[in-house]
Amino acid sequence: MLDPNKIKKQFPIFKREINNHSLVYLDSASTSQKPQAVINSLVNYYKNTNANIHRSIYKLSEEATSAYENVRSQTAKFINAKSSREIIFTRNATESINMVAQTWGKLNIKPNDEIIVSILEHHSNLVPWQQLCKEKNAKLKIIPLTKNYSIDLKNYKKLLSKKTKLVAITGESNVLGTRPPLKEIIKLAHGKNAITIVDGAQMVAHSHVDVQDLDCDFFAFSSHKMLGPTGVGILYGKENLFKKMPPFLFGGDMIKTVSKYDAQWNDIPWKFEAGTPNIADVIAFGEALNFLTRTGLKNINEHNKKLLKYAIEEFSKYKEVKLFYAKDSAQSSTSILSFSIKNIHPHDIAQIFDTEGVEIRSGHHCCEPLMDYLKVPALARISFYLYNTFEDIDLAEKALKKTLKIFK
Ligand SMILES: Cc1ncc(COP(=O)(O)O)c(C=O)c1O
Repeated sequence: MLDPNKIKKQFPIFKREINNHSLVYLDSASTSQKPQAVINSLVNYYKNTNANIHRSIYKLSEEATSAYENVRSQTAKFINAKSSREIIFTRNATESINMVAQTWGKLNIKPNDEIIVSILEHHSNLVPWQQLCKEKNAKLKIIPLTKNYSIDLKNYKKLLSKKTKLVAITGESNVLGTRPPLKEIIKLAHGKNAITIVDGAQMVAHSHVDVQDLDCDFFAFSSHKMLGPTGVGILYGKENLFKKMPPFLFGGDMIKTVSKYDAQWNDIPWKFEAGTPNIADVIAFGEALNFLTRTGLKNINEHNKKLLKYAIEEFSKYKEVKLFYAKDSAQSSTSILSFSIKNIHPHDIAQIFDTEGVEIRSGHHCCEPLMDYLKVPALARISFYLYNTFEDIDLAEKALKKTLKIFK
């Protein structure tokens, strides 16, 4: 069991007040708050270790290199990759997905090939594939949802064909919380010799991910949604695929040798990490992984589920409020609840919540096609993490009442 009040104390931001109220942070699906241990790691790196990595033989550089590479191994372990060679550090999940589109995609997608995505996708797992399809004269196909906001597997099976070369699917929707049945989706894709990429930006923050068990070919995520710093993304890829892929960016560190008119590429994973990487943030990401491991992803997930259940119970008392979340138990949301209020724009809702110190997200959530599909211009969203309490939801409900009163 997890004690969110104890956990909260380890996050200095919760000492802050917003509009004379204690901070209630309900936007972790956008970015999580950072524990003191992560902040300490950043400060400690710049105070005591700062040096460039992979290129010098003096002590500081060796220490920095080893701390950075240890986090690569730790990340591999966290998602059960076979080897740390299968972990590439990028800037964010978006860059990780773009890297696959620009390298594997450019090499392998041909005219009339097909790429399948779902209507749930965040723009970062949609726009790179739209662009690749345009460039290669390939076709983009989109899996719809069932009425309960689950992935429509029947329809997916119909979309799959010999022409399918790639299936790009979210592990968890940032709007509806839907958790598609990844193993089944991946197995069906492999049955057609298509490869798969999972956008794990949401799911990895609070569910145990085992990339070998999933058997996905690529898995992309961001440190900042899982207690780590911004500026660190991760791309997992199967070693045999990484080896065949051309580099994404060119320059220092990604080469083995360079002559006047040519160059040989470094081994994986460094072939994909051109230039000085985000050393301090990667090292601090290691502390975020420690924190999550210590707390236990299972505990975090159970905690989120309880909060979500409570929030659904409380918010559904108001007839003006419409809730949007995945309802089928097999694909159900565990930490995300979107909602709309009749005749009130979500930006107005978020603004009034803010006057009560309750920080929530509003807008299209980088999912414009999904907003069209749901026939809404935008939604308000609350999302939970390990530091949220039942009291946070009571305060959100208080803000909801205030909103309804103002717009009466
Ligand atoms: C499901 C999903 N995918 C991808 C992203 C993109 O993450 P980043 O902005 O860290 O690249 C987000 C961010 O909100 C997300 O929720």
